[in-house]
Amino acid sequence: MESFTDVPRIKESSDIGQQQDRVVTEEEWLQKWKTRQIGFHKEQGHPILRKYLDVLLNGRNGLRIFFPLCGKAVEMKWLGDMGHYVVGVELSECALKEFFTEHDLSYSEETIPGISGAKVFKVCFVLA
Ligand SMILES: C[S@@+](CC[C@H](N)C(=O)[O-])C[C@H]1O[C@@H](n2cnc3c(N)ncnc32)[C@H](O)[C@@H]1O
Repeated sequence: MESFTDVPRIKESSDIGQQQDRVVTEEEWLQKWKTRQIGFHKEQGHPILRKYLDVLLNGRNGLRIFFPLCGKAVEMKWLGDMGHYVVGVELSECALKEFFTEHDLSYSEETIPGISGAKVFKVCFVLA
């Protein structure tokens, strides 16, 4: 069986070389979502996660899976539909609302006491 160590390293292109030390500010991320500069989003999910999903899950059910910097990653929907508990953290409320809309998910919205401006959005997946 292939393992994660077999995953080929992504070669650095000259573009990545120039960008790798650059810090993108929160304002710039919000601007990217606002102006639709979201080339990082993969409609079909990340190919490496798709390829190794079975290895990651290893037959386990009800896992709690964390997606930091989640954007509107479609993998969160796949995993929720499979019965896993997904927690994503994202700066852009717009990204999260797009995620819910694009997957036709109803959600609740609450503020988080003690963390100014932070919100938690909750979705309940109904398993077939
Ligand atoms: C390169 S994108 C990746 C998004 C997603 N994981 C994907 O593969 O499509 C990085 C994401 O992190 C979010 N982000 C940037 N800074 C953040 C922060 N401090 N806290 C939470 N999310 C942040 C951005 O808004 C953006 O959606």
